[in-house]
Amino acid sequence: MTLWPRFAVHLLLVMGVSEGSHPKPSCPYPPSQWCRSLQIAIECQVQKQCMELNATRPSPGRPLVEVTLYYESLCPGCRVFLTQQLYPTWTMLQDIMNLTLVPYGNTQELPSGTSPFSCQHGEAECQTNMMEACILHLAGDASLHIIYCMESSTHALHAARPCVALYAPALSWAAVECCAQGGQGVQLMKDHAARTQGLNPTHSHVPWVTIDGEHREEVQEKAMASLFHLVCDLYKARKPPVCTGVQVKLDRSLC
Ligand SMILES: *[C@@H]1O[C@H](CO)[C@@H](O)[C@H](O)[C@H]1NC(C)=O
Ligand SMILES: *[C@@H]1O[C@H](CO)[C@@H](O)[C@H](O)[C@H]1NC(C)=O
Repeated sequence: MTLWPRFAVHLLLVMGVSEGSHPKPSCPYPPSQWCRSLQIAIECQVQKQCMELNATRPSPGRPLVEVTLYYESLCPGCRVFLTQQLYPTWTMLQDIMNLTLVPYGNTQELPSGTSPFSCQHGEAECQTNMMEACILHLAGDASLHIIYCMESSTHALHAARPCVALYAPALSWAAVECCAQGGQGVQLMKDHAARTQGLNPTHSHVPWVTIDGEHREEVQEKAMASLFHLVCDLYKARKPPVCTGVQVKLDRSLC
């Protein structure tokens, strides 16, 4: 959703709370949901913008650029890439890219013992990886927002609960906790382990990016420099205006 940046929501929330006298609350949906149905669009008074957005959206059925990030949750380079390249790119280009996150990285499976994994950045990383695996499994479309929210926080694991409450209010925290502390989380991590160990070529570091299932060093370099430009370049169907900079006469709903 490019027309209504996410920070605007926070701003509205902050203003709404501090100014009790605000005449009329906005509709009860965040901007990411405004164009989901005609009914919501009407309620949020963005019908015209949504119709335009739908009209300029890339045609469905075109092959999307498949971006997969292999990472581990507390690796500094992964956090920088995730929060400063991947998330902003996905925010702008989610209509032309299909993003998959694989939290595992340089983790190792232990043959036995109390904890089934050993993580490069310690036990806290193992817990955070598993939490993110559960969120990816349970939170659907909201999961990337939540993982961005966690990774951009001071303490990623502590941030999980408020981030889930903010971006997936309907998801029960008990379900997330149950997954992250039980067999389901371990199973999800084993799946991520298998995917990571199956990489060809084998990953030598993280963040490790594959595009359309392939890893190439020069593509990795481009992804690290500007994932946004890389995804725009690789999208073969008619490129969206956000890639080309072509001006479209949109109703911007100025306030
Ligand atoms: C935009 O398009 C989607 C998918 O085709 C549709 O479900 C949705 O209702 C449309 N939104 C509006 C506001 O027309
Ligand atoms: C995105 O990729 C996954 C597999 O990585 C696939 O199952 C899914 O269908 C793809 N989604 C779209 C919209 O192409």
